[in-house]
Amino acid sequence: MKNTVLTFAKAKEEKTKISMLTAYDYSTAKLMNDAGINSILVGDSLGNVVLGYENTVSVTMGDMIHHTKAVSRGAKDALVIADMPFMSYQTSVYDAVVNAGRLLKEGGANAVKLEGGKEVCPQIKAIVDAGIPVCAHIGLTPQSVNALGGNRVQGKTELAAKKLLEDALAVQEAGAFAVVIEAVPEKLASLITSRLDIVTIGIGAGNGCDGQVLVYQDMLGMFSDFTPKFVKRYANIGEMMTSAFKQYDEDVKNSSFPSEEHTYKIDDEIIEKLY
Ligand code: KIV
Repeated sequence: MKNTVLTFAKAKEEKTKISMLTAYDYSTAKLMNDAGINSILVGDSLGNVVLGYENTVSVTMGDMIHHTKAVSRGAKDALVIADMPFMSYQTSVYDAVVNAGRLLKEGGANAVKLEGGKEVCPQIKAIVDAGIPVCAHIGLTPQSVNALGGNRVQGKTELAAKKLLEDALAVQEAGAFAVVIEAVPEKLASLITSRLDIVTIGIGAGNGCDGQVLVYQDMLGMFSDFTPKFVKRYANIGEMMTSAFKQYDEDVKNSSFPSEEHTYKIDDEIIEKLY
């Protein structure tokens, strides 16, 4: 059955957890969907783990729509949330509504996610008023890496913690159906979770959130440029891939691939006529 914003609301009410993973292509989305993952985030982490950028700042609407289309085709039951890329919503409320609309109309997403607290509440309200569910994202907001001075834990001082709580309440008030809390001390994320009526999705925010999200290349050991402390590695697929690629390279070079079983046949008579 399709997961919707009502699934999120019910989970909050019944104190059951929401599982979310990122995906950027059809076949991965299908595997996650079939594993029962509630929600798939087409994150702008696409910039790091798929496109090889240093950060998410360069990701475009075109990139997001292209990958959201692929994920949407594979996610029959999972709620698909598409990230709004840097400068697709900060510029104006109008831009925010138009670009959120494109992620649903062209990309096939069920909801959008954008980064920020109080300062993006006019955008959240306008997108929600247009009938598009919004997931907010507070704490470490990677699109602001240049302003934050790096990817570091957020909300550690009294002032910063108070601001995060206020931001969480503000995005809820603006109409967000969920909020991602990234790289925030567990006790603060738990406090925010207890104060909100909407679902909190943690990433590096401890076990007290209503759900969790991870970047799938991180949890499968497929991305080694940088691994944050909060990542749990569930498999070493990267090592398996490298070893398979090495084996293939060897097989091609020593002519043991392709063998008979991977080869099409034709009558010898036909070939002889060509000589
Ligand atoms: O882009 C992304 O993958 C994200 C998650 C890290 C929450 O925003």
